[in-house]
Amino acid sequence: TPRVFSGIQPSGGLTLGNYLGAIKRFVEMQDSGVETIYCVVDLHAITVWQDPEALPRQTRELAAGYIAAGLDPEKSILFNQSQVAEHAQLAWIFNCVARMGWMSRMTQWKDKAGKNQQNASLGLFAYPSLMAADILLYHATHVPVGEDQKQHLELTRDIALKFNHDYKTDFFPITEPVIEGAATRVMSLRDGSKKMSKSDPSDASRINMTDDADTIAKKIRKAKTDPDALPSEAKGLEDRPEARNLVNIFAALSESSIDEVLRDVGGKQFSEFKPMLAELAVNKLAPISSEMERLMQDQAEIDRILRGGAARARAIAAPILQRTYDIVGMVR
Ligand code: TYM
Repeated sequence: TPRVFSGIQPSGGLTLGNYLGAIKRFVEMQDSGVETIYCVVDLHAITVWQDPEALPRQTRELAAGYIAAGLDPEKSILFNQSQVAEHAQLAWIFNCVARMGWMSRMTQWKDKAGKNQQNASLGLFAYPSLMAADILLYHATHVPVGEDQKQHLELTRDIALKFNHDYKTDFFPITEPVIEGAATRVMSLRDGSKKMSKSDPSDASRINMTDDADTIAKKIRKAKTDPDALPSEAKGLEDRPEARNLVNIFAALSESSIDEVLRDVGGKQFSEFKPMLAELAVNKLAPISSEMERLMQDQAEIDRILRGGAARARAIAAPILQRTYDIVGMVR
């Protein structure tokens, strides 16, 4: 039976990229009736420095964002990674299965470590091994993510394959990445060749889930575009990364295909399209951000939900870790 797992780092505010590439699809999968497990991956977040004064708020805000966007903590298991110790325990086993060479090829490692790799944390290097543990600890079969996580999911498959091969077992499943929809790679509003990211120094490059209506409208109005009118079919978007990005965002927010969007807006100038996009974005995002704000009034309730989720997660994870220890030959 299918089981879905995914996670998001509580490393600052949520962006429209996180929403369209991940959370919105998490909700769709939950509502399709399969078993869904969603995590706030705080152990991943601390692979780069997180202020201990800020991390609790970021963790609760992400949990609130999940719920405000439609995740139901009764239907889905919603929890915080560090509350289920089995994640770190299985990650250690996988650190001994994965190879240094595999990790050094990861583009996220190269991007985040920058020029001075010797000064990056060991945790940042081992990041994908913890991610494989997140997924395989639940024998998850499907993992919805944005395009940027594809390489990490391939490495998860490599770890499962090598573990199964080395220990002569078929214990770990080979997981399917689910990278689907119009917005698997939402780009920066300032540069159509860069991913929209919470770590971009320019706030104008992204839409934050907590931006108010005026800010959203202003960022879209100022978004970089070319001077031409919108094309009437998708192939007219080739070589127009900024135009393509805005059309993709429109399609994902309005739950229509690129072709359907272009049927309506083909031939329009950006001066006419941008206000349409801004209105759509505000209509979709404002209810989520106001619900997030409401949920954040009651921290005790968020903590209660996360604790409940952790107990349910552990009930699945603990036997799988114990089985793994047996396979590896740990005496208990
Ligand atoms: P993180 O926190 O960087 O991103 C969370 C999710 O948002 C997606 N995403 C985007 N999608 C489209 N366009 C964008 N501009 C954009 N920016 C971010 C990411 O692809 C991701 O799906 N390593 C993961 C967290 C993780 C995880 C896991 C995921 C830890 N363990 C296990 C799946 C399964 C990450 O970097 O998340």
